[in-house]
Amino acid sequence: MERRYCGSLSEKDIGERVRLKAWVHRQRNMGALFFLDLRDRSGLVQVMVDPESQPAAHAALEPVRAEWVVEVVGLVRAREKPNPHLPTGQIEISVEEATVLSPADPPPFAVDGKTDASEELRLRHRYLELRRPELQKNFMLRHQVSIEIRNYFAENGFLDLETPILTRPTPEGARDYLVPSRVHKGKLYALPQSPQLFKQLLMVAGFERYFQIARCFRDEDLRADRQPEFTQIDVEMSFVDEEDVMYVVEGLLRRVLPLAGIHPPAEFPRMTYAEAMLKYGSDKPDRRFGLEIREISAAFAGSEFRGFRQALDEGGCVRGFAVPGAAEASRKQVDGWAATARQHGAAGVLTLRKKDGELIFQVKNALTPAELAGAAAALGLEEGGLALIAAGKAASTAKALGALRLELAREYNLIPEGEHAFLWVTEFPLLEHDEDAGRWVSLHHPFTSPDPRDLEHLESDPGNVRSRAYDVVMDGVELGGGSIRIHRRDLQSRVFALLGIGEEEARSRFGFLLDALRFGAPPHGGLAIGLDRLVMLMAGAPSIREVILFPKTASASCLMTDAPSTVDQRQLTELGIALLPKGDS
Ligand code: AMO
Repeated sequence: MERRYCGSLSEKDIGERVRLKAWVHRQRNMGALFFLDLRDRSGLVQVMVDPESQPAAHAALEPVRAEWVVEVVGLVRAREKPNPHLPTGQIEISVEEATVLSPADPPPFAVDGKTDASEELRLRHRYLELRRPELQKNFMLRHQVSIEIRNYFAENGFLDLETPILTRPTPEGARDYLVPSRVHKGKLYALPQSPQLFKQLLMVAGFERYFQIARCFRDEDLRADRQPEFTQIDVEMSFVDEEDVMYVVEGLLRRVLPLAGIHPPAEFPRMTYAEAMLKYGSDKPDRRFGLEIREISAAFAGSEFRGFRQALDEGGCVRGFAVPGAAEASRKQVDGWAATARQHGAAGVLTLRKKDGELIFQVKNALTPAELAGAAAALGLEEGGLALIAAGKAASTAKALGALRLELAREYNLIPEGEHAFLWVTEFPLLEHDEDAGRWVSLHHPFTSPDPRDLEHLESDPGNVRSRAYDVVMDGVELGGGSIRIHRRDLQSRVFALLGIGEEEARSRFGFLLDALRFGAPPHGGLAIGLDRLVMLMAGAPSIREVILFPKTASASCLMTDAPSTVDQRQLTELGIALLPKGDS
C-alpha cells in the first residue's frame, strides 16, 4: 500500500485503507480512546486508536509524544465531531497497525501553535522551527517563486548563467567577506557582493540576455530586511534602455506575485528621486497611504517665529503633513514624534491641530492667525486633524518627516490590509558626498551611467548629476535596483576619476573591465531584485529571516552551527595566517 500524505486526505477517501508516515503533532489520551494529530509537509490529520479493538496498535502508540515519527495503517472514516478549522477536519483515520519509526526527546519549544521561546533557542534548533507549518508554507512559496522566475526568463530568451563565488571585490558599498588563498599566501579572494562585473562581462561576451538566482555576500549592519548572505534575481540585457528593463521586471512581478494572490498593475507608476524625497521623505516611498509631505514655507515668508524664521533665512524650508483624525494626540505621543525627528537629524517637530474650528499651534502665540490659516490650507488640515511641521535644511527635514510619516501611518492604522503599491523611482543622483571621507562616492555603483543630459557638468557640478539608475519599490520596501551601465571606456575613466579612483588603482582593481570595454561592449543595463525581500512581502512576513532557511543573527552568526568559528592552528599555518591577539584589530 502506497504512502499517502496527511493533508491530502478528504471525505473522498472515506472507506479507504491508507498508510501514513508522519510526525506526531499533538497527542491526546481521552480515556477510552487515544487521539493523535499526525503531521507531514502536506498538513495535519487526526488519527484515533481504540485500545479495545486494536490492542497492538495502541501498545505501539502509547509511549509516543510530540515529534515522534510513526507509521500507521488505518481506515478513513467520517469524524463524529468535524473540525471546521482543519482542512482534513471532516475525517479521521481509525488505526489498525502502528510502528514507531523514530522516538524524539521532548522538543525545547512547541512546534505546534504559537511559541514564546526566545529567538536564540529557536535558531539553535532551526530544523525544529522549520517544521512549523507557517514556516513550511513560506519555503514552499519560495520554491514556487524560484520555479516561476526561471520559467519566465527562459520563455523570454534569458540564459541562466552562473558567475564565480571566489572572485575579486565588487564595489557595492558594503565590506567584503574575504577568503584567504592557500596557494598564493598573503592573497585573498572576495565573495561577491553581487555578480555586477561578471554580468556586464557576459554582455561584452555577447550573451545578450542573462539572469541568475545568485547568492551575494555583504558584511554590513543587519536589519529586518538585510542578511549578510542573501539571494538576488540578477538580470542584465544588451541594447536596452530603462524602458526595456522596466518592462521585463514588471512582467516578472506580474508573473510571480499572483502566487501570493497579489496582482500588480499593468504598468507601475514612476517618480523621480527628487519628487520622492520631497513628497515622501524617502527614496522608497510607501504609497499605500497618503500623508504626503507639503511645502509650507510660503505661509511663513514674513513670520517672526524664530524656529521657522531661522530655517528660512538659512536657505532651509518649512514642511509638514496632515494626519486626519489625530487632533487628540497625547503629550507622550508628541514627545515620541519629536524624538523620532531628532533621531533623523531634524531639530524637532511641532504640531498644529484643528479642533472645533480652531487652529492650535504647539507653541502658544507664536504664529499670526494669517500664518496659521495659510499653513492649514497648504497642509490640507481638516477638522479633527493634526499636522506635523518641521523646519530646517531640506535634506534633514525630508528624512525626519519621511520617518514620521511611516510612524504615524502605523500608529493610526492607516495602511490598508491587503493593498499593495508599486513604484519605480528614477533619476537617482549619480554621486553622494561622503562627509567623513571628504569625497564623492557612487550612490549605486561606479558602473552606472550618468544621465546624458547632465554629462556637461559631470566635473564642474558632480552633486547635481543624475544617473540612469532606477529602483523598484513595493509597499515601501526597496525590492530591486539597477541601471543602464557605462559601456564606453572614456566615460568609465571619467567617473572613476570623479570618485578619486586614479588610473593606476582603476587598472589594478577593474583592469579586466576597462580592457573589456575596449573590445566592443554593447550598450547594456539590468537590475537585481532581492529574492528574500520579494518572498518576505509575498508571505506577509515581518522579516527576511522568516524566508531564509538558516538565517544569521543580528551579529551575523549562525547559532546552530556556531559559525563563524575558530579553526585549527594547522589550517591557519597552511594559509600563512597569524591572528592578532583580541583587541589589537
Ligand atoms: P543593490 O545593491 O541595490 O544592487 O541590490 C539589489 C537588491 O538586493 C537586495 N539586497 C539585500 N537583500 C537582503 N540583504 C541584504 N544585505 C541586501 N542587500 C541588497 C535588495 C536590493 O534592492 N549589482 C546591483 C544591481 C544592478 O545594478 O543590476 C546591486 O546589487 O532587494
